[in-house]
Amino acid sequence: MATVEVQGPIMQLLLLLILAQMSLTGSSPPPDPVACAHGTSNCTINNAYASFPDRRPCHAARAAYPRSEHELVAAVAAAVAAKRKVKVATRYSHSFTKLACPGGSDGAIISTRWLNRTVRVDAKNRLITVESGVLLRELIRAAASAGLSLPYTPYWFGLTVGGLLATGAHGSSMWGKGGAVHESVVALRIVTPAPASRGFAMVRELGTGHPDLDAAKVSLGVLGVVSQVTLALQPLFKRSISFLKRDDSDLAEQVASWGRLHEFGDITWLPEERKVIYRQDDRVDVSTPGNGLNDNLGFRPLSASDLVASRIQDENLQKNGSDAVLCSANRVAQAYLESRAFGYTNDGVNFTGYPVVGYQHRMQASGSCLETKDDGLKTVCYWDPRIRGTFIYNTGLSLPFSRAPAFVADLKRLRDRNPQAFCELGTSGVLMRYVKASTAYLGKPVDSVTVDIDYFRSRTPGTPRAHADVIDELEQMVLLKYGGVPHWGKNRNFVFNGAIAKYPRAGKFLEVKKRYDPEGTFSSEWSDQVLGIKGNANILDKGCAMEGLCVCSDDTHCAPEKGYHCRPGKVYAGARVCAR
Ligand SMILES: Cc1cc2nc3c(=O)[nH]c(=O)nc-3n(C[C@H](O)[C@H](O)[C@H](O)COP(=O)(O)OP(=O)(O)OC[C@H]3O[C@@H](n4cnc5c(N)ncnc54)[C@H](O)[C@@H]3O)c2cc1C
Ligand SMILES: *[C@@H]1O[C@H](CO)[C@@H](O)[C@H](O)[C@H]1NC(C)=O
Ligand SMILES: *[C@@H]1O[C@H](CO)[C@@H](O)[C@H](O)[C@H]1NC(C)=O
Ligand SMILES: *[C@@H]1O[C@H](CO)[C@@H](O)[C@H](O)[C@H]1NC(C)=O
Ligand SMILES: *[C@@H]1O[C@H](CO)[C@@H](O)[C@H](O)[C@H]1NC(C)=O
Repeated sequence: MATVEVQGPIMQLLLLLILAQMSLTGSSPPPDPVACAHGTSNCTINNAYASFPDRRPCHAARAAYPRSEHELVAAVAAAVAAKRKVKVATRYSHSFTKLACPGGSDGAIISTRWLNRTVRVDAKNRLITVESGVLLRELIRAAASAGLSLPYTPYWFGLTVGGLLATGAHGSSMWGKGGAVHESVVALRIVTPAPASRGFAMVRELGTGHPDLDAAKVSLGVLGVVSQVTLALQPLFKRSISFLKRDDSDLAEQVASWGRLHEFGDITWLPEERKVIYRQDDRVDVSTPGNGLNDNLGFRPLSASDLVASRIQDENLQKNGSDAVLCSANRVAQAYLESRAFGYTNDGVNFTGYPVVGYQHRMQASGSCLETKDDGLKTVCYWDPRIRGTFIYNTGLSLPFSRAPAFVADLKRLRDRNPQAFCELGTSGVLMRYVKASTAYLGKPVDSVTVDIDYFRSRTPGTPRAHADVIDELEQMVLLKYGGVPHWGKNRNFVFNGAIAKYPRAGKFLEVKKRYDPEGTFSSEWSDQVLGIKGNANILDKGCAMEGLCVCSDDTHCAPEKGYHCRPGKVYAGARVCAR
């Protein structure tokens, strides 16, 4: 999720109210995704939204909280000796799918919560080494205090280094090696299983140029526990950012050129409004005046009671199907976000006009809802599962850069059939970013444009969503017609079915997996499905397509009793969607 992307269905009717009442005094920090009934045993693990795609939490027999690499090795060894399956849990666990679930129900969780130290900053060689549980926020701060920065990162800084690498997370760039963080990794240390004769666990040190780095940089967490990561930095620089709103008539051409023109460029398309917000975002000399700050409005602490009220509105709109109301609410919210520059300020306080110029470490990412002054759930990050507020799906796909213009043209045809259906995407619209082909085996196979959307999710399984057929068609179009691949940390299940076949070097990844983890200690049902080792990610069941657990192939996968049947897409006839 990203700048404007995250402000989807939440930010509608009550947006103004929420922002007006924003607390400046604190925010309740997100909960720990791991909860154990007795000390560190009999545990459940969930994601940050407290809901996996199949809506069931996972169980584990125990959880370990190592505070050093030495303790980490002991934790892996204990699990291997006891023949338990293992997965890593992070401070917040943002991935949507069951990546963090150990196999079976009596596995072990190793949390990187306390592996959160900066090990060393080597200013001369522009390198930083951190433990894998370090938040992107801390990495950015530690680098900046040595006059250095990581050029391309996700826009939300609550992610851990281990988690964002494992899922191939990225910002946006077509320059250099592109927008993914793993392109900056030069070395790492990973703890893997070992034979009993070697104490059941070992540290593997993958230094600069080590061939296995291409497996370990983007590993989905199945090779072992990454202990430390060394990243290459650049001298701290400044950026100059303007958001330009234009009509969408030439978007198909722009998508091919924007990323080449602007180092950090991205594109937010608002299909219903027929407008595009172009992020014109470039590196400038440090002498350029400006002390800009990015404090994204959607990542600020928001009032829990307003989020709950907003959710009730969203639920009613889903039921009543009043497109016009939703669309006009979006437009009001959108105008407001634009007037506030989405949370960018020129001086850390006020927005006085574009461009906003500031140091990279103040501009690249944000997340003020993480500040940990507990106010008893009065204000929270908007997705906090302890209140009945926002509940959404986040789809993140990418398609070959060369095919992006054709995709945009197709999506315009779908839009033209019913523009108001796209109001379901809220103010976040369709976010497009740039990521280049990677040497990482599970990184992008080719230069890519990523497509991010957020949309309403019901708390009641099987409940029809307004215009779900249009969103499903969009997703299947990217995947099937344009050869797209999923973001490893986002999405609903069906998106992963067959995905691994689109990675030409998946076989090399699996060879490393066999060498590092021959017994499959770090494998789970879900990772086996995603990697094509065993089974597949679809859950073929009654109503499965209503939940994104499958693509429908007959009516029972939809909700015929509610009038939803399995039909071809309207523009992409190869899609199969549940429609009325
Ligand atoms: C508000 C928000 C904004 C976002 N913005 C962006 C964005 O701009 N760009 C983008 O690409 N993504 C974005 N994301 C998605 C995000 O990148 C992924 O969800 C990411 O994986 C989450 O990182 P995490 O630290 O929460 O890891 P988790 O979800 O907890 O873990 C991911 C996987 O990595 C494994 N893992 C974690 N640490 C280790 C380790 N040390 N060793 C081995 N395996 C490990 C876990 O077991 C799990 O399998 C966003 C998510 C949110 C919630
Ligand atoms: C584990 O905890 C749950 C409650 O969270 C309890 O119902 C269950 O009996 C416990 N199981 C064991 C083996 O202790
Ligand atoms: C590491 O995490 C712990 C627990 O979440 C926290 O109390 C501590 O301040 C963190 N340390 C650093 C250096 O961020
Ligand atoms: C939708 O329906 C609910 C309850 O059925 C009602 O309270 C609400 O006013 C309706 N909203 C709109 C916008 O029609
Ligand atoms: C910000 O704007 C307010 C009025 O909107 C003004 O009172 C204040 O002085 C400004 N702050 C700065 C730092 O310019």
